Amino acid sequence: MNSRIAGTGGYLPENVMTNADLEKIVETSDEWITERTGIRQRHIAVEGETTCDIAEKAARQAIDSAGLKPQDVDLIIVATTTPDRIFPSTACLLQQRLDIHGCAAFDVQAVCTGFVYALSVAEKFIRTGSATRALVVGAETTSRIIDWSDRTTCVLFGDGAGAVVLEATEAPGILSTHLHADGAYSDLLTVPEGVSQGFEKMQAGDAYIKMQGNEVFKMAVKTLGRIVDETLAANNMEKRDIDWLIPHQANIRIIKATAKKLNMSMDQVVVTVDHHGNTSAASIPLALDVAVRDGRVKRGETLLLEAFGGGFTWGSALLKY
Ligand code: UT7
Repeated sequence: MNSRIAGTGGYLPENVMTNADLEKIVETSDEWITERTGIRQRHIAVEGETTCDIAEKAARQAIDSAGLKPQDVDLIIVATTTPDRIFPSTACLLQQRLDIHGCAAFDVQAVCTGFVYALSVAEKFIRTGSATRALVVGAETTSRIIDWSDRTTCVLFGDGAGAVVLEATEAPGILSTHLHADGAYSDLLTVPEGVSQGFEKMQAGDAYIKMQGNEVFKMAVKTLGRIVDETLAANNMEKRDIDWLIPHQANIRIIKATAKKLNMSMDQVVVTVDHHGNTSAASIPLALDVAVRDGRVKRGETLLLEAFGGGFTWGSALLKY
């Protein structure tokens, strides 16, 4: 059994933070942020607005656009690094919101690669006959784990949610997925505190993103170049066979390097980093939803999704939309 994307959805919190707003908080400039990252603004959840709140909006839109009702879904996977609670999982909380009962629901934590991981897991559930209609969501309130006095990270991230419904089909949809990780690099991009180290330590105020940006940048460019080759080779495809690159949106310079590796013009690349910033696990499904809704991505086209993030984790998915 194959699987295809039957519907997409996306949601961004209404509250927008521009580079000019950040100039008032840290020693930075619109010029630096735009030149080094391509980011002009990001959406930030207001107080009390949670990952599940924004995931629900994206999920309902994806289910609607697939022409389904929530109760048609028989698997829920949420990729997030910023869950509402330690437990239950955000997927279970979302299940309750959507009034779905009984199907498997769980979170996947692979930071910025989370959506690609979740899509790959859902695809395998469908391929083995364990599910027929999977709701796959990437949702983050990354702003909650930002140190707003650290200019090297606070200018980069934003909040948002994207979702797809993956449905069992005869015809090929998802052609292949490729997942990797190397925990040897865990300290280059991390939130160093966690539950098992004790709440006192977390409350001491270290539960924020720490990144050695330049090291991460170099690894991201090199690794994404490799995964492009791996994905094409696995499918006996050439670079020219890809219609759209839908990359994780961390930095326009990383995106351009991958497009160059693929000999693709930037007209074939979906870019949202300028308006969304880096929304971690939400960035790929949000970009896909934008390009589907504005009519760029059409049925039958070949899409390459790729991501790199904390762990390090990295991965790709090649699919016929
Ligand atoms: O999504 C998960 C994966 N994450 C990523 O892929 C992020 C990868 N990294 C990056 O995108 C880039 O490394 C950054 C955008 C984070 C930084 O860009 P960079 O070109 O690597 O700059 P840098 O870290 O080498 O810093 C250059 C200079 C430094 O000043 P000095 O030491 O040269 O005087 C920084 O202190 O820029 C300074 N700087 C800033 N200046 C103004 C760093 N952040 C800022 C800032 N505003 N916000």
